[in-house]
Amino acid sequence: MFLKNTLPVIGLILSVTATALADRQTALLDANWRFRADVSHSVPKGTPVTQWQWNALDKNAADSDWANVHIGDDVFQGRLGYAWYRATLPSTSGRPAVLHFEGVDDNAVVYLNGVEIGKHQGWDDAFDVELRPAWKNGGPNVVLIRVENTAGPGGIVKDVILTDKENTSIPKPGPGWSTVHLPHDYIVKGPFDQTADAGHGSLPTYPAWYERTFTLPAADRGKDIWLDFEGVYRDAKVYLNGKLIGEHQSGYTPFRFDIGKLARYGSANTLDVHVDPRHQEGWWYEGGGIYRHVWLTVAAPVHIVPNGVFVTSKVKNPLGKPSATLSISTTVYDAGSKPTAFVESHIYGPDGGSVARIETPVKLTPGAGATVRQSIALPSARLWSIEKPQLYRVHTSVRTTGAGVVDTIDTHFGIRTIRFDANKGFFLNERHVKIKGTCNHQDFAGIGVAVPDNMEYWRVRKLKEMGSNAWRMSHNPPTASVLDACDRLGMLVMDENRHLGDTFNPKTPRGTTTDDLSELDAMVLRDRNHPSIIMWSMCNEEPLQWSDEGAKIFTAMRKRTLELDPTRPVTCAMNDSEYHGIALVEDLRGFNYNPWSYAGYHAAHPDAILYGSETGSTVSTRGVYDHTVFSRDGHKFMGDEAAGYVSAYDINAPSWANTAEDAWKPLVPDYMAGGFVWTGFDYKGEPTPFGWPCVNSHFGILDEAGFPKDLFYYYQSVWGNKPVVHVLPHWNWPSKMGQPIDVWAFSNAAKVDLVLNGKSLGAQPMPANGHLQWNVPYAPGTLEARGYDAGGKLIATDTVSTTGAPYALRLVDGGNALTANGEDIDPVEVDIVDAHGRVVPTAANRVTFKVTGPGRNAGVGNGDPSDHDPDHANFRRAFNGKCLVNVGDAEKPGVITVTATSPGLKPATIKIKVAAH
Ligand code: GAL
Repeated sequence: MFLKNTLPVIGLILSVTATALADRQTALLDANWRFRADVSHSVPKGTPVTQWQWNALDKNAADSDWANVHIGDDVFQGRLGYAWYRATLPSTSGRPAVLHFEGVDDNAVVYLNGVEIGKHQGWDDAFDVELRPAWKNGGPNVVLIRVENTAGPGGIVKDVILTDKENTSIPKPGPGWSTVHLPHDYIVKGPFDQTADAGHGSLPTYPAWYERTFTLPAADRGKDIWLDFEGVYRDAKVYLNGKLIGEHQSGYTPFRFDIGKLARYGSANTLDVHVDPRHQEGWWYEGGGIYRHVWLTVAAPVHIVPNGVFVTSKVKNPLGKPSATLSISTTVYDAGSKPTAFVESHIYGPDGGSVARIETPVKLTPGAGATVRQSIALPSARLWSIEKPQLYRVHTSVRTTGAGVVDTIDTHFGIRTIRFDANKGFFLNERHVKIKGTCNHQDFAGIGVAVPDNMEYWRVRKLKEMGSNAWRMSHNPPTASVLDACDRLGMLVMDENRHLGDTFNPKTPRGTTTDDLSELDAMVLRDRNHPSIIMWSMCNEEPLQWSDEGAKIFTAMRKRTLELDPTRPVTCAMNDSEYHGIALVEDLRGFNYNPWSYAGYHAAHPDAILYGSETGSTVSTRGVYDHTVFSRDGHKFMGDEAAGYVSAYDINAPSWANTAEDAWKPLVPDYMAGGFVWTGFDYKGEPTPFGWPCVNSHFGILDEAGFPKDLFYYYQSVWGNKPVVHVLPHWNWPSKMGQPIDVWAFSNAAKVDLVLNGKSLGAQPMPANGHLQWNVPYAPGTLEARGYDAGGKLIATDTVSTTGAPYALRLVDGGNALTANGEDIDPVEVDIVDAHGRVVPTAANRVTFKVTGPGRNAGVGNGDPSDHDPDHANFRRAFNGKCLVNVGDAEKPGVITVTATSPGLKPATIKIKVAAH
């Protein structure tokens, strides 16, 4: 982790005086971006190329083997492999620059006059190929395309256009531009569209432009200056003063461009960023925009390179009075003056006090980085753990004999040990810890993937409240701040790389190489100081996982990972239970699903270290208790099929998945290190088992707006260490008078008694890791579950009561402190309550919000997977009694007032304080 000194950024001027040289200047560039969506971008003007031929054999096939084909034809008809397309490009007056493809399904290599001029990987998204390198003036110009089909139908599926212009030209600010603050996801604004990909949340994707200015003082000339983008979804093209300075395809890895030689000094610089989220890297909602922070750094010509400090530790006596030896490697760059230089590492303990320091000379190499290695003994060490997440800090300074201290940075790290055992599971600081994890994607209701730092903390706290101690970053390197949150709050992490090998396909095709592992490097170099991370995952459910080819790619990635960080095991998530392919070469064997196979696998391969990389995929909709049976893909579910809801009892799971109980019980034996439930929170996209009208997943233990479903309490009862009893369903069944209701209780008590209107319906012993059930003829009133310990002492109760009609609104502060940084959000819960203040569990009133003061409404939600109201609006319908308004984005301190109104209901107001930044 790389801590930055932040400067105020309004009309940014970085002035570095001679005396301030010691400190690098790092400014957050999140404020004051101008933004313009490029909805009409899709097809550029030009000449369509319509006359195509194809064959399935070879590019040099005889003319008689080529058949005419239309754009849009599926030439594969279920076949996997290659097809060749050819066309003679129309003659044009000028020299055409670009051949634009609206969509080739799925991978294309493009040749012009026999010369390879471009490649594209991915499903059917648009791309451009430059023609200039092989264009023949006067023609003929023959274009040949090798299309690879890795799944489903395939071919050239959308228009091909010959254009004489570069497709990307920076638009002039004017109408249609707005001012935005990062993190920013514009795709989440919708509207939902049935024709858009349901897997991605039925939200159409399109490109956009961002622009902002900054000024560097004349005195900065000659320094090293760079821009850091923490993450842009996706295909970022970055322009400085109108000139393209770099491109970055991945939507999940950070990237950096040096601008020292290109910037203007003493006058404004204009930064333009084109983003194009149309290419899909995954199969879930991925958002679009500059959705993570952007930083500008000015450093002296001799400076510590980005991610250049790496601290590891060896711990003695972790269970008694621990001591540690730290190994610190620091890489220093010298632009050319070759001064005599020294690196000082000054260690501060968890309470902020100085604990050790060391200074070492470093031999600089002009134009390159030089690494110095230091070792420091700490006679007494305070260990990082889940319960006590204690962090140390190293303050690194570089001093040269001529100029004194020229650069400093701070890096946080933790001292702890990790160990996996094939029979006994996982040990943190030599204490056994069962991994009780969840997998999560990035997005949250109302804000999409642009999750501000303080909301990452909120999400981690929610999962900890459930008793969870681990988070799998599925299936991509996350925003840096979620790792900070895990470090600071005590949550273990499985950090995951997006792709197997150097592809950008959602699934890695055969023939993928490992020539460019820069995605992996970016993740490991950025993240390796985080004590929360206990394993590196290379990939998820890759079709090549079983093969020698997959194992070879994995092995190259593992080797690279261990070169950068030799301290953590390397794993991946496999969705089979065989002992083959990657399973033979990884350090930990991750099982996605197949819980029935854990025991046999352990018996057959007793040295393999096993854990559930993905478990559960139980589907449930908050507050829905419908037992109507329906069938999807030959599989039975209970719920309301037409509405796109599945029942919230622990009874629904797709064919590959399990109920929560069936997923958890096989993980209990010690030879399973634990597992990661799919998923902690619902996310947009993957509305399994439905398609439209559903736009959200049902996998979450909490819904998309962060409201717990009933299963939250199942996990709390089996994972947590507080007494828990939870009863379901709600108790508003006016149309079921006298009819039997299926009542469940989750609990960790020894015995649970169910009491209706004061009368016991019979106490039952609580089965370990299970649930209890009663069949209760419905009568309105109060149903109470009472949990008793083995000695008969009442330790927990839970009640559901028949409520009256909706009467009032109640606003509940989400408890997330706000500072005036323009980004923080507090998720405010909106309850529809009856005259006695009880949430009406079926209420669907539409609520309108007014937010005044320094903040604003940053997006709304309600956890309803089939709701098509926009996430950016001043209203939301309640779903089963609740909805959400995210409040924040304040740039000034003060008090925000939130008022909620709804026809016929008593309005509610709360005030939320914004502290100075
Ligand atoms: C898994 C996959 C996840 C998600 C999940 C849904 O197979 O790894 O990304 O799609 O299924 O159950």
